[in-house]
Amino acid sequence: MAFLADALSRVKPSATIAVSQKARELKAKGRDVIGLGAGEPDFDTPDNIKQAAIDAINRGETKYTPVSGIPELREAIAKKFKRENNLDYTAAQTIVGTGGKQILFNAFMATLNPGDEVVIPAPYWVSYPEMVALCGGTPVFVSTTQENNFKLTAEDLDKAITPKTKWFVFNSPSNPSGAAYSHEELKALTDVLMKHSHVWVLTDDMYEHLTYGDFKFATPVEVEPGLYDRTLTMNGVSKAYAMTGWRIGYAAGPLQLIKAMDMIQGQQTSGATSIAQWAAVEALNGSQDFIPRNKEIFQGRRDLVVSMLNQAKGISCPTPEGAFYVYPSCAGLIGKTAPSGKVIETDEDFVSELLESEGVAVVHGSAFGLGPNFRISYATSEELLEEACRRIQRFCAACK
Ligand SMILES: Cc1ncc(COP(=O)(O)O)c(C=O)c1O
Repeated sequence: MAFLADALSRVKPSATIAVSQKARELKAKGRDVIGLGAGEPDFDTPDNIKQAAIDAINRGETKYTPVSGIPELREAIAKKFKRENNLDYTAAQTIVGTGGKQILFNAFMATLNPGDEVVIPAPYWVSYPEMVALCGGTPVFVSTTQENNFKLTAEDLDKAITPKTKWFVFNSPSNPSGAAYSHEELKALTDVLMKHSHVWVLTDDMYEHLTYGDFKFATPVEVEPGLYDRTLTMNGVSKAYAMTGWRIGYAAGPLQLIKAMDMIQGQQTSGATSIAQWAAVEALNGSQDFIPRNKEIFQGRRDLVVSMLNQAKGISCPTPEGAFYVYPSCAGLIGKTAPSGKVIETDEDFVSELLESEGVAVVHGSAFGLGPNFRISYATSEELLEEACRRIQRFCAACK
């Protein structure tokens, strides 16, 4: 009898965590490494949010909370959905989790049976297929193209849906491509979903507040209220409020699903940390001034990185609408010989040669299901980004 569960054979470790680990190891050996692998803002959590956590500790808010979250946070979430997305949810239709990650995991855990399919557009956030597989479902990938700015077409979505499809996972702005769907682009997808009444929508709106220029964020139920009874709208404070370490994510949806997720969470973590929940109340109800300030900084960095990457020989980089990632193609480097003498055959070869030769850590596109590309997280200083892009340009010029 094997000691480890069969489920483990269905999952792979996170490529993004592996890249960060490799960069740390090289740094520890004294190499000058610029890590562009991490998916978290480099800003500090705003002071008003930190203070709310300190106040919660001092008030003694240090005990177990209700499994689905403290009432104050669930109210704040319902108000946020009304204020920012014009969605009507009661507090009872919301749930707080230990990061958006737990919300997604528990939604799959609560609903997937063997044979159930989950449609996931590629490139995708690395955790979706692994979570689906761990919960016994089957991920079904639908590729997008760089020509279409990594956005799924209505025809391709329609073709991917079968009688076994349980969920469609939607993520805009996207990790890893930064692509965000306008209201009209999303409407084309929700029209398809309206034809398939057995398909539920899991929308991961984690990067809602990180869109640039005059782009306007849209979420499926806002665009198509007819999907209200079969959509879980997920979001969180990690990216918008620079709170990745606080581990608070949340969602709203049909009561039956929320109750099922509550049941799982009750046997799992008993709910998120009390102190972090009070901090999240302040994040959602307090001053939102932090968000536009950060957006402006991120937009400047995005423009810098896109422009410098497009000057690198063999690289082409579209300008994404949101998040803090770019997803350039390295197709022009495939078949070339790196300075080490190794022929670059895949995007994975490209990123490992780049790391060895120039000390720049990025993540290969095949880890996100679409290549030959690579992901750069520009959540770091302009100075470092400029230096990293100069090194990428030098590396590309040196490949013959
Ligand atoms: C698309 C996407 N969804 C969800 C998450 C999870 O966020 P959290 O920190 O709230 O677990 C991330 C984090 O990288 C993400 O990129």
